[in-house]
Amino acid sequence: MQDIVEQLRAKRALARLGGGQKRIDSQHSKGKLTARERIELLLDEGTFEEWDMFVEHRCADFGMQDNKIPGDGVVTGYGMINGRLVFVFSQDFTVFGGALSEAHAEKIVKVMEQAMKVGAPVIGLNDSGGARIQEGVASLGGYADVFQQNVLASGVIPQISVIMGPCAGGAVYSPAMTDFIFMVKDSSYMFVTGPEVVKTVTHEEVTAEELGGAVTHSSRSGVSDLAFENDVEALMMVRRLYNYLPLSNREKPPVRPTNDPADRQDYSLDTLVPSNPNQPYDIKELILKVVDNDDFFELQPEYAKNIVIGLARMNGETVGIVANQPLVLAGCLDIKSSIKAARFVRFCDAFNIPIVTFVDVPGFMPGTAQEYGGIIKHGAKLLYAYAEATVPKITVITRKAYGGAYDVMASKHLRGDVNLSWPNAEIAVMGAKGAVEIIFRQDKNDPEKLSAREAEYKERFANPFVAGARGFIDDVIHPHETRKRITRSLTMLKQKKLENPWRKHGNIPL
Ligand code: HXC
Repeated sequence: MQDIVEQLRAKRALARLGGGQKRIDSQHSKGKLTARERIELLLDEGTFEEWDMFVEHRCADFGMQDNKIPGDGVVTGYGMINGRLVFVFSQDFTVFGGALSEAHAEKIVKVMEQAMKVGAPVIGLNDSGGARIQEGVASLGGYADVFQQNVLASGVIPQISVIMGPCAGGAVYSPAMTDFIFMVKDSSYMFVTGPEVVKTVTHEEVTAEELGGAVTHSSRSGVSDLAFENDVEALMMVRRLYNYLPLSNREKPPVRPTNDPADRQDYSLDTLVPSNPNQPYDIKELILKVVDNDDFFELQPEYAKNIVIGLARMNGETVGIVANQPLVLAGCLDIKSSIKAARFVRFCDAFNIPIVTFVDVPGFMPGTAQEYGGIIKHGAKLLYAYAEATVPKITVITRKAYGGAYDVMASKHLRGDVNLSWPNAEIAVMGAKGAVEIIFRQDKNDPEKLSAREAEYKERFANPFVAGARGFIDDVIHPHETRKRITRSLTMLKQKKLENPWRKHGNIPL
């Protein structure tokens, strides 16, 4: 027995050493933590239960039969975050550059399958050179097995990816199918093909950072939700994000009791919106003033800034916030913002998170760039997402709600449960000036008449009462009571039950 125990100890020590001290030092010298150090930081202390520490690859080509490291480049298992269950895999760059072998893929699939059976999120810490080149198609098959699990788990359990090193080729497509992607600045990259291949094929010269760094993906492509300064910050923020989420689609998100009164009023909101309708203001000020303890976990803050999305709590309950941002492009909906918000709305709907929408939108962005880019199809994504969502939907119009964008932004017509408006709101087909120029074209050479018509149109339509008279707005409220009205609505909606007709799946315009 003593020998066996000694053998076990030695095997464990070998597995824990991964690719060896030299490679661990090299990882540290790049400012990166090792796969195990990352897990230790991510999970509550002492809760990690490791699986498959002794798994080895089965490749016999290119001298690989004599080059086996227990664990085969990925550390997998489960543990707790603030006492709640989570499954995790963490790729070990010190072992064959974290490259994915058939056995390595099997380990990831195993935790994903178990996570789905018990209903708990999966967090993937990615640091991988992609398919293990020595294994050829066996490795490609392994990737496809992981992709298949990602798709089966989508909408069933939350999936979070953290990119903590190079991720090339197949290594980017698994994260791409998860719910959230976090990246680390200066040490993580995502690209389908790296700079060398780009140079050969398109003759473009681009650095890895420019092509697929954290800043690129969180501000230009929108692939990543957030970019962080280092591994520690990224992992701490994953723990924060996780706290908002339910374990699976079978559960509601956790409620965190708060000392922030549900009926707290904020009189500064009464002067938030400038009297000039063309003057912008920061919608984030409103968000911070109405959520619990001004704590807002914004997602994609650097991408499509004309719409703001993120998670917060109201009266302790997790809510998804979607808000037009008048500071950027006057809050217009364009291709990027529609896609950004649509995916978030669908995430909230899949995981029983009520959606609070703040509307100040002059319409969809006009122009050839938008039309040629397919704004019709992409704008429809947001419309579709709101229309299919069955979670509680609360909407507050703070100023403009014009045209198609009025319909899209969680209007009453798309089964909005509670639709409120501030008294200064303008709910109409379009702004008064544009409207008058079209319907009173005959007066175009008579500025006096035109301005009288404009005033008449404003008087008639640039207010919330026409919509109120039809019941499209449930109430016109004072800005200072916004939090109270939303928290009461959330309480009223706690047991909301609404189901869409049975279907295999809808056909959202992709
Ligand atoms: C096997 C790999 C590997 C891989 C890296 N290594 N990638 N081994 N398969 N894919 C090994 C290296 O040989 C090296 O081993 C160690 O990992 C560290 O790699 P370095 O190159 O020294 O590190 P670094 O300079 O930091 O560069 C990291 C890298 C680079 C950018 C990831 O290694 C690289 O470009 N790798 C290849 C990426 C790639 O083309 N992957 C295949 C993608 S195709 P030693 O022993 O020397 O330390 C793909 C298809 C899937 O994934 C498609 C599914 C849809």
